[in-house]
Amino acid sequence: MKISSIEDYQRVYKQSVEQPEEFWANIAQNFQWRKKWDKVLEWNFTEPSIKWFQGAKLNITENCLDRHLEAWGDKPAIIWEPNDPQEHHRVLTYQQLYEKVCEFAHVLKNNGAKKGDRICIYMPMVPELEIAVLACARIGAIHSVVFGGFSAQSIADRIQDASCNIIITADGGYRGTKLVPLKNIIDDALVQCPTIKKVIVLTRTRTPVSMIKGRDVWWEDEVKKVETQGATDFPAEEMDAEDVLFILYTSGSTGKPKGVVHTCGGYMVYTGYTFTNAFQYEPGEVYFCTADIGWITGHSYIAYGPLTQGATTVLFEGIPTWPTPARLWDIVEKYHVNILYTAPTAIRSLMSFGDELLEGKDFSSLKKLGSVGEPINEEAWHWFDEKIGHKKCPIVDTWWQTETGGFMISPIAGITKTKPGYASLPLPGIQPVLVDENGNIIEGNSVSGNLCIRFPWPGMLRTTYGDHERCRTTYFSTYHDLYFTGDGCLRDEDGYYKITGRVDDVLNVSGHRIGTAEVENAINMHSDVVESAVVGFHHEIKGQGVYAYVVCPNQHGDPELTRKDIMMTVTRIIGAIARPDKIQFVSGLPKTRSGKIMRRILRKIAEGDAENLGDTSTLLDPSVVDEIKEGAL
Ligand code: WTA
Repeated sequence: MKISSIEDYQRVYKQSVEQPEEFWANIAQNFQWRKKWDKVLEWNFTEPSIKWFQGAKLNITENCLDRHLEAWGDKPAIIWEPNDPQEHHRVLTYQQLYEKVCEFAHVLKNNGAKKGDRICIYMPMVPELEIAVLACARIGAIHSVVFGGFSAQSIADRIQDASCNIIITADGGYRGTKLVPLKNIIDDALVQCPTIKKVIVLTRTRTPVSMIKGRDVWWEDEVKKVETQGATDFPAEEMDAEDVLFILYTSGSTGKPKGVVHTCGGYMVYTGYTFTNAFQYEPGEVYFCTADIGWITGHSYIAYGPLTQGATTVLFEGIPTWPTPARLWDIVEKYHVNILYTAPTAIRSLMSFGDELLEGKDFSSLKKLGSVGEPINEEAWHWFDEKIGHKKCPIVDTWWQTETGGFMISPIAGITKTKPGYASLPLPGIQPVLVDENGNIIEGNSVSGNLCIRFPWPGMLRTTYGDHERCRTTYFSTYHDLYFTGDGCLRDEDGYYKITGRVDDVLNVSGHRIGTAEVENAINMHSDVVESAVVGFHHEIKGQGVYAYVVCPNQHGDPELTRKDIMMTVTRIIGAIARPDKIQFVSGLPKTRSGKIMRRILRKIAEGDAENLGDTSTLLDPSVVDEIKEGAL
């Protein structure tokens, strides 16, 4: 399953395009199936309908856990580093993780969960989060993990959209010096969620929380009950390859996040294959991904991908800047990390604290580095390469999306020659194409266009939960017979791909996807706001920042306070991650005669490029532009 040289890559890539079904069937042999497939692939991008490994039966947790027990039962699966370095770390071997997952699978069953149920998970980065995820998969329930930074309202929206019946959370979570009151936030959310019948609460911070009789139960009590019953094993539920494994919500161009749906068989094969190949994972290596399990990177490359490969992963509860901005380097040293996978925003932030923090740190264990989430600028790439990798660690700049399930365009560590800022070449099975505005495929090299994929791959999304039409219109209707990524891209003279950023109304703030329409909706909820328009602007650390133009005539005499009120409204409606960096009050927005907001102009002004606004003659009232230019922040 592992590519061994660049010639091997070229050979394998060619085969994957010429005989995709044979290719993927071969890869899938490396996994454990209860029953093999009748048909490798059936697809059309019109509906869309995508089915991989039809007829096959499996449970992904048998691939993540059971199959490793005999040879690797004593091998660490998870090394958990707590927020506070003074607190003891924990190691869970594959055997221990297996037992805990089985135990919690019983807890779920005892609390009424069954195959096909949707279970929401809102937890800090503790091993129990991964245990909860795997226990859902073991019983065939569909998990919907919500990142701990989202607000009660966002959780409620997601719970309602998927009609979840159980939620798994914790009393609180630690992030640096902050204590996040997770259960309180859940209580606020649940006021609007009648479908929730059970709340399972892990003790982490022992913050006072309200526990409602009949609905709320403690994780520890429930586990104890299972222990007294003496139940250790939990036979995994048999799943169809195309049964849903999980839903993960992500932002798009509309005001409402969509539930991206991934299925059991294809997702397992794809995350396992891409993990092993891009990182060239060798048994025994310690792998550290700094993402949160609440995002796709955590699903695919902290939990499922590495576990299917029997890898040892470091799970980190805290933040890179606490107690000092050398925290990640301390972790690398402490656990002799071999592979470090992080985000450009983290690299830029840590760079900004100066190189003194690196003095005396031992980076000698590092062999491979990875980057994900947004385009990495050359300066950050070189710093990562020189100061962290000491020029001996290949950097895999992995381009992919929540919707793709796993890496799409990425170097293969040590095999693909890297170029700073380039995601480089497509992985086997991935057929990227660039298209122009008219949907024509642009052939040849040294070109740029919108990035599409022309053939299915096992890890791709199958639908958006509860709204298949939305999946079709978002991804499959812009260009005929192509999956549209929403990203702009260039292909250089060597055929190398470089992602240039989103071409739709989605921002990428610190590697998090944020829909401008979603932020506008939240701002417009503020009682004094008439209208708003949100665009991105270049931000040194975050990559992009959120710039909001807000029409709000009634400011009660204090614009600063109104600004704070609006920030608070966004925090309440979406979460602190979507809070605008800048709010400019304006008397009106630049609109065309048909009432469309001219975002192009707003983007330019936000970028500080107000002199080159282009044609403004189609504006209803060109004078608002002068006012906006003058007031630009
Ligand atoms: C961006 C994260 C450049 C891109 C895995 C994509 C990247 C969006 C890269 C998906 C990269 C991700 N280089 N841009 N290596 N990786 N992106 O769904 O715009 O949170 O469409 O998935 O992040 O974000 P998502």
